Order: sequence, then structure tokens, then C-alpha cells
Amino acid sequence: MTTPRRPVRTPAGERRSRSLPARRARPVHKPAAPAIDDAFFRHIVAGMRNGVLAVTRAGTLALMNDEAYRIFDLEPRPGDLGAPAADVLRDHPEVVRVLSGVFEMSLLPNRVELRLRPSGRVIGYTLAHVRDDLGEMTGVAMFFKDLTRVEQLEERERLRDRLAAVGEMAAAIAHEVKNPLAGIEVMAGLLRRKIPEAPDAQEMLTGIISDAKMANAIVQEVLEFVRPIRLQVERTSIADAVQAAVQHSDTKARRGSIDVAISLDDPLPLIQADGHQLTQLLSNLLINAYEAMHGTGRVTITATGARLADGAEGRAAVLIEVADNGPGMPRDVADRIFEPFFTTKSQGSGLGLAIVRKIVDAHDGKIDLRTAPDGGTAIHITLPVSSEHDATH
Ligand SMILES: Nc1ncnc2c1ncn2[C@@H]1O[C@H](COP(=O)(O)OP(=O)(O)O)[C@@H](O)[C@H]1O
Ligand SMILES: [Mg+2]
Repeated sequence: MTTPRRPVRTPAGERRSRSLPARRARPVHKPAAPAIDDAFFRHIVAGMRNGVLAVTRAGTLALMNDEAYRIFDLEPRPGDLGAPAADVLRDHPEVVRVLSGVFEMSLLPNRVELRLRPSGRVIGYTLAHVRDDLGEMTGVAMFFKDLTRVEQLEERERLRDRLAAVGEMAAAIAHEVKNPLAGIEVMAGLLRRKIPEAPDAQEMLTGIISDAKMANAIVQEVLEFVRPIRLQVERTSIADAVQAAVQHSDTKARRGSIDVAISLDDPLPLIQADGHQLTQLLSNLLINAYEAMHGTGRVTITATGARLADGAEGRAAVLIEVADNGPGMPRDVADRIFEPFFTTKSQGSGLGLAIVRKIVDAHDGKIDLRTAPDGGTAIHITLPVSSEHDATH
């Protein structure tokens, strides 16, 4: 005896055969389970984070979700569905062209990118044929994603690579130039000693030596600027760094009778920083102040406890201010002082503040410029007491 092939009724009311179902000659229309009705599918499509668009065989728009409207920069209008897709998408003929070609395609492309004309936005899309239960093609669908942000990230990465390559090249050139420069300086010195009786030539040689020295200083700064910073972070005293910077600046620039006043909060927390870099940062600021004031004036270095506003409460930080009562600077200069190679000095490298900024960034800090209306320049540097990594643990 064989088991009778009795259909079984499932709770959802669906007919199912207990044995293997016979090959369907005609597609069976399955009644949908109660939860998964048309509205449910509509909500899925509406809530998708991809753009979805469907066009009927007749070329009318059957579906377009919110994300698609957003990507296409269109406002949804009541008559859109059912209207010719070419009308609704009239600002995007490139999309209409893709859609109209899909009906004829037997092999659909895997994933294609397309730049939308008006906005310049790039989308990545896939295509699908929409078929009815009989297998008839009734429409086409397009699924797409806005790739602009992805593209921007890639672009930024490429730029970083390029900059790294330029930096390496600059470092290599600077390194190669250092030796011949030293040679010029030494030989000019020897020659100066050989011709004591020719004061004109002596003067020229002195000029050559001082120019070679200056070129060497610029090469040194270029090397410092392009070299990636490897921080040797330790608990660092700001007072020590300030002292070292004041001493170091005296060897680099003429201070004249400029008065340097130091006022640090007591106690001031030790900060997680590279002491050597911090000294370099402060001495670059001091040197600029000395150079701006031509021998007379006052520089004040202050440091106080502060907070870096980058969380709900911000991070514990120290605010260091280096202020001078020099001439200050006009707005157009102020806007550019942190740019590498920007200088208003005939013998400047324009790298001092670019290096300062690089050091601040490496410490995850912040830098601001304040110029007072009555002249004077103040640079504010805020450095976290502990590095971000430590702060979150
Ligand atoms: N304390 C200051 N007072 C006035 N101008 C300043 C001061 N610090 C910086 N500047 C301006 O910013 C420019 C860039 O400074 P910097 O990057 O150190 O390069 P450099 O000192 O080689 O010119 C200077 O040329 C100068 O015009
Ligand atoms: Mg400088």
C-alpha cells in the first residue's frame, strides 16, 4: 500500500504535499503569510539604506524609495509613480539611458559606477530584471549606493600617499644638499684665511659663508618638517620645557633686551608629551616673537590648567600661551601663518609654525592664534594631560 498523497494544510493556510512536490507546470500563487503583506514589502524598500528604483516595461516609474530621491537630489511628488521614468528623472539622462537598456540585456553587469551629472555624485549600482510568476519580464530595477564619501576617503588616502612620497623626496634632496653646503662653508673659510690682504674678497667670502649657513638652517628645517614625528612620550614638565626653550632660542635668534616673563600655574600637571618636541615647539614661537620685535619688547609665557572640549566633559589639558607685544600681523598674514613655506621674512623658511602645528597635531592638541587690536601676537596651545588612548581607559 502506498501512502495517499494527501495535501497538508499548514497554519498559514498553505498547501504543501508530504512527498516531493511534482514539478510545477504552472506557478502556484502562494497566499502571503499575514505579516508579510504588500505594505510590509513597501516598508522594507522604503527603509533601505540603498537607493531602489523600478521601471515598468512601459517605461513608467513603479518604485523609488527615499534614499533614491536623496541621491538624485529630487523632491518626491504625488504623481511620480506611474509617470514616465524619463520625465521624473529628466535631470539624470544617464540613469534613464541605463534603465532603458536593461530590458535587452541577457547578462546583467555585476556592479557599475556612474557619475551623476548635476551633482557630480558617484553611485555604484546593480541591475535586476523584474519577472512575474510566469517568468515574463515586467520591469527592471536598479539598486544603488552613494559612493561619494567612499570616493573622498580614497582620494584622501591617495593624497596622503602622494604627500608621503613628496616628503620622502624632500628629505632625500635636503640630505644630499647638506654635504655640499658644508663643503662650501668650510672651503670659503679656508680661502678667507689664505687671502688676508684682499679685504674685498674677504667680504664676499664672509657673505658666502653666512648664506651657506642660512641655507643649511633651511635644509635642517625642511628635514624637521618632512620627517614623520615619532613621539617619545613621557610624563613631561612644562616648566622644564619652557626653560630649555628659552635657552635654546637665545642660540638661534637675537634677543637683544627683550624681556621674557614666565608665569606657570602651581601646581601644573605633568603631561604625556615628547619633551624634546615640546621644547622645539616653544622655541619656534619664541624665535618668531624675537624676530618680530627687533630687540625690544616683552614676551610672556603662561601655562594654566584647561580642558580640551572633545567629549561630554572634555579632557584634562594644559593651555600654554606665548604672547608678545610686537607689531602683530595683518589679517591676510594671520590666515596663512601655519602654511608650510609661508613667510614674510626675506630669510625665513616659513616652516617654523608648520612644524609647531605638526607637533601639536601629533600630541592630539589644539592651536589658536590671537592677534590683539593694539598689535601683539598670542599663540594658544592646548595639550591633553594624557594621550587620547590613555584617557579612554
Ligand atoms: N610673533 C609674531 N609676530 C608677528 N608675526 C609673526 C609672529 N609669529 C609668526 N609671524 C608671522 O608668521 C610667518 C610664518 O612664521 P614661521 O612659520 O615661523 O616662518 P618664518 O619665521 O620662517 O617666517 C612669519 O613670517 C611672520 O610673518
Ligand atoms: Mg619662524
